[in-house]
Amino acid sequence: MSTHTQFSAEDFFAQQPPPKDLDKRLEAVQRFVERNVNEGRRVVLITSGGTTVPLEHNVVRFLDNFSAGTRGAASAEHFLGSGRYAVIFLHRQHSLQPFSRHYSHSTNPFLDLLDVVEADGGVLGKGKAPAEHLPLPDGHLFPPIPSMQSPPSSPPLAYTPLPPLNADEPPNTDHGLTIQIRPPHLAPMLSLLRSYKVVKSLGILHSIPYTTVSEYLWYLRGISRVMGQTKDRQGQALGRRGMYYLAAAVSDFFIPYTKMSEHKIQSGKGSLVIEMDQVPKVLKTMVDEWSNEGFIVSFKLETDPSILIPKARTALERYGHQIVIGNLLDTRKHEVVFVQKDGEEWLRIPHHDGPDGKEIEEDIIARLMELHEAWTSKGGV
Ligand code: PMT
Repeated sequence: MSTHTQFSAEDFFAQQPPPKDLDKRLEAVQRFVERNVNEGRRVVLITSGGTTVPLEHNVVRFLDNFSAGTRGAASAEHFLGSGRYAVIFLHRQHSLQPFSRHYSHSTNPFLDLLDVVEADGGVLGKGKAPAEHLPLPDGHLFPPIPSMQSPPSSPPLAYTPLPPLNADEPPNTDHGLTIQIRPPHLAPMLSLLRSYKVVKSLGILHSIPYTTVSEYLWYLRGISRVMGQTKDRQGQALGRRGMYYLAAAVSDFFIPYTKMSEHKIQSGKGSLVIEMDQVPKVLKTMVDEWSNEGFIVSFKLETDPSILIPKARTALERYGHQIVIGNLLDTRKHEVVFVQKDGEEWLRIPHHDGPDGKEIEEDIIARLMELHEAWTSKGGV
């Protein structure tokens, strides 16, 4: 007999324990939304990255959903850059994030863009091996690398030539050295850094990490409810001025808490058979109960072009939200289709491989902002 259970959203939240810091996180979201709505901004919740399904409580193995987080992180930058939106960025831990994604270790290794220039103008590592510069015992090439989280009070080796930013930081010792950004990289890095600092200083980006599908759904519900209920000083709810941009790739199946193995599953029995239950579809509940008429955009990822639009349309009809953006795995960076009640609209950009090419998220967000504007004016907010 199968033990498969069809969970409603209600059952799911009754049985899956919440993330331990949920309340604290939601209080911070509430403050963020209140402040931004009072400063005249709209608020968009962006979900990004893939959810995991752990196989054990003491998790050694898990199933993962495909998503690097590029769509979500790039989209966040365009919403922020418009000056009209504050962004709540609900993202898979360690997936790509707005701004820092441009210097991820794989696409643009940050350390390769920097040179260490000595007092005499020589560049460390070019010509002479760096070890020649360092008085290290026992043939070591470099000393232990200090932790960025908690720098030691007196660095064993300072490659850091700049004066400390805060008076209580220890003084640097290698005043003869300078860290220099290689010329072709300076302009883009400066532009990125300026954008990042503006966003930081305005306090318009609030990030929350998740890992499992259960954490994702708890945060999705909590944040949507907070957005739905928050009012501005005039007593007007965020309501239609809120947008929900659901780019995360969410697992369709999971193992309920009570059925999950406590310890690492042992390999002694040969094959492994896993039975998983269906994750409840929460979009309908989001529309009907949580979001208070917010503008909801979901994504549909397929690999077979012939089913993309029919599947997107089915989702739209089933959940009753505003837009499904369809994309195919192979072409998702160059074309997407907006599926709405009254028709379909393709957005396309030329294929590009270089770092300076335009990203399709620029056009997606520009179009969504127009559609959101129309949605808010229809609702009279
Ligand atoms: O991050 P990248 O590498 O750039 O890739 C981006 C992407 C391809 C992952 C993205 O563009 C995309 O298509 N995301 C949705 C993938 C998908 O088909 O998800 P889904 O079928 O699991 O869910 C459909 C929609 O409902 C999604 O918007 C999802 O966030 C939402 N959903 C689904 C299930 C659930 N229980 N709750 C949800 O909110």
